[in-house]
Amino acid sequence: ADHVHVTFELPTRAAAELAATGLATTVYSGPTGEPRASLLESVRGASGIICLLSDRIDAELMDAAGPSLRVVANYAVGYDNVDVAAAKERGIVVANTPGVLDNATADLAFALLLATSRRLVESDRFVRAGNDWKWEPDLFVGLDVSGGATLGIVGLGRIGMAVARRAAAFDMQIVATGSRASSPEAAALGVRAVELPELLTTSDVISLHLPLTPDTHHLIGAAELQAMKTSAVLINTARGPIVDELALIDALRDGVIGAAGLDVYEWEPTVSKGLLSLPNVVTAPHIGSAGRATREKMGSLAVQNVTAVLAGRPAPTAVAS
Ligand code: GLV
Ligand code: GLV
Repeated sequence: ADHVHVTFELPTRAAAELAATGLATTVYSGPTGEPRASLLESVRGASGIICLLSDRIDAELMDAAGPSLRVVANYAVGYDNVDVAAAKERGIVVANTPGVLDNATADLAFALLLATSRRLVESDRFVRAGNDWKWEPDLFVGLDVSGGATLGIVGLGRIGMAVARRAAAFDMQIVATGSRASSPEAAALGVRAVELPELLTTSDVISLHLPLTPDTHHLIGAAELQAMKTSAVLINTARGPIVDELALIDALRDGVIGAAGLDVYEWEPTVSKGLLSLPNVVTAPHIGSAGRATREKMGSLAVQNVTAVLAGRPAPTAVAS
């Protein structure tokens, strides 16, 4: 009989939906992040796996599951943790959770954009520290976001488009790279399609919305940071290794760029100490999709992906392989 292994506790409604399918399930319910040895054991004989972006789903794991494994449903839109080629060789469907987290992730990108541009976290620390302050013309002056600042969206896909909608409402100029940058939908938001070099030199704020692939690894390195305005703000809610984190620390420390708002890190969950000592960095612990309703939708979609494949139907959101 089919057995589904879930590497974490699904949100309430999604867990009920999985239970209602009648499929046999096992759930890892320890502290988040099922240890590798446990994971290799838990998946043995499983037909489906619902996993986290922090679970490495590679050939070894698929072979530990064995020939019963037919579907891997990642509880994330990014699936750089899954070896899609190894899955394809074994006839295993890989699915992700696109669409349902676009607004939540764009909201967090915009929160980081505003927090860095207007120095909100620095201001908060200043007030909490009990500093003696009065209104002063120079107190925490930052970048004007509304009314003309240029936002560069690197990788205008579903999430990037949701960021562009917010930027349009703030009267920002928007430039973007990516396949949809010259679409009618982008044009309607005032987006101008550009190549990366032009985006880097013209943007006041640069926000990354690409998947992590061999092509995007260290897409933003020392040379790209050097090309940016000295006041530029870099926002990363995509994947840490898209940015060369050590080069970013140097650039932030040396005034090569102005500030960074980060939800993801190159060596996640480790955050480079160099970042944490800089005042012009706002950090979050990879919470882009962490809205309550969003998480339920991600859970439902993961459950639908597994149940569809085990019922012999196409997964609603299988990734291209
Ligand atoms: C989160 O980072 C995701 O890819 O969904
Ligand atoms: C993510 O799914 C994107 O298309 O931006």
